[in-house]
Amino acid sequence: MTRAISLQDVSKTYTKGVRVVDRLSLDIAPGEFLVLLGPSGCGKSTVLRMIAGLEDITEGSLLLDGEWANDLPPSGRDMAMVFQNFALYPSMTSGDNIGFPLRIENPGADPRDRVDATARMLGIEDLLDRYPSQLSGGERQRVAMGRAIARHPSAFLMDEPLSNLDAKLRNHLRAEISKLTRELGVTTVYVTHDQSEAMSLGDRVAVLRGGVLQQVGTPREVYGLPRNVFVAAFVGTPRINLLRGMVRAPLGGAMTISLGKQFLRLPEPLSLDHQLLRVQQGREVIVGLRSEAVRIAKHSSARPGEVPLTGLVDHVEYQGHEVLVHFNTGSHPAVVPDLEAPRPAARPARRRRRDGSVIDRLRERAVALRAGVGSGSGAGPVAVLDEPEAEAPAPAPGIPRIPGDLVVRTTPDIDLRHGMQVPLLVDLAHLFVFDQHGERICPAPARLPDLDE
Ligand SMILES: Nc1ncnc2c1ncn2[C@@H]1O[C@H](COP(=O)(O)OP(=O)(O)O)[C@@H](O)[C@H]1O
Ligand SMILES: [Mg+2]
Repeated sequence: MTRAISLQDVSKTYTKGVRVVDRLSLDIAPGEFLVLLGPSGCGKSTVLRMIAGLEDITEGSLLLDGEWANDLPPSGRDMAMVFQNFALYPSMTSGDNIGFPLRIENPGADPRDRVDATARMLGIEDLLDRYPSQLSGGERQRVAMGRAIARHPSAFLMDEPLSNLDAKLRNHLRAEISKLTRELGVTTVYVTHDQSEAMSLGDRVAVLRGGVLQQVGTPREVYGLPRNVFVAAFVGTPRINLLRGMVRAPLGGAMTISLGKQFLRLPEPLSLDHQLLRVQQGREVIVGLRSEAVRIAKHSSARPGEVPLTGLVDHVEYQGHEVLVHFNTGSHPAVVPDLEAPRPAARPARRRRRDGSVIDRLRERAVALRAGVGSGSGAGPVAVLDEPEAEAPAPAPGIPRIPGDLVVRTTPDIDLRHGMQVPLLVDLAHLFVFDQHGERICPAPARLPDLDE
């Protein structure tokens, strides 16, 4: 009943030779839940529509259960689609909406049993006699799901089905979709731009940027071993800290990665991972630090593998169960073009004018890059390293020159205020290093942080 879906070097060109999907190859196993994740405009819906048969494939092949299916009409594919905009017939009750595809498929048969069974599965038995206008957004989306499920399709194709719902309902329905698709064991391709949705739902996640597949793997793999800075930055909240660094490996001296005004000293003997950095001597790299890689603690309390850093508190984001502290460490953030939105400003607008010049420039540059590197040209560089910033005039005492460049997650009991100088410890076991093209160097592929501890 459930099917294998295979895309082989699939490209899509709408107009003027621009490939909005560029040589995509992906094998989806029967019963698998695969999430297509990427920023708006990266080609997710186009891929889904090509699988559904609603869009021609310009180049490459689509195989369904190993059979070439490029020209198979949508009705011959036995797939059900669920869209963001719940397209229910307003003049039909929920029950009739759910039963409608069954009546089309099999005009003589009474769909009532199937409709009832589906409604029970979705917990909407009470809603079958109501019209769409009498339903809430979440209820309507459940009916839309019911319509897809009742047909017992061999695959579900879902295009941002929860995007129009409020956060609470979204989380609730997310759990239901996960449970339901697993129970049914039907191959599901699910499109979203929401990384947390992707991570919580997918057996595997395929990350797209500008029509080009960046990486496909389990949520744990794409989080723990992102192939490049784009994947690293797209997956995980708070967003990974990406700082421009320089590897220094003097003969007979300790290897360090300088981060603007400070540096990380790599302990001797060098780990296998850190040895990989030797060839980067004198080159710019991008250092990636997720929030679990940095903690606020006295330098004297460093554990093996932790190295010191100092930060000036720029801004404190209270979140209830935790606090995000934006530090200024004197380093320069690396810019990743094509990300959906730049990291939100760390400070209120009224303070930005005084010392926000570097961030403003980076932002302008990101906008310019986005225009130049834009979607469809996935071959462009993922990370872009500027020339080092010129020295700015000395800041007034106690006021950081550069806005927060490092976000650290901590418990809410800690009392930190703007301008405080705070000791930090960086856990090198969680250090990511990317080369100047944004490809990951450390950790080496064999090692997944968290797994070997
Ligand atoms: N029918 C169309 N004609 C021309 N361009 C299109 C069409 N549909 C989508 N596109 C373009 O293709 C790119 C990918 O679109 P889409 O697949 O909808 O992205 P996503 O679903 O990831 O937001 C976008 O640049 C979009 O403008
Ligand atoms: Mg879309």
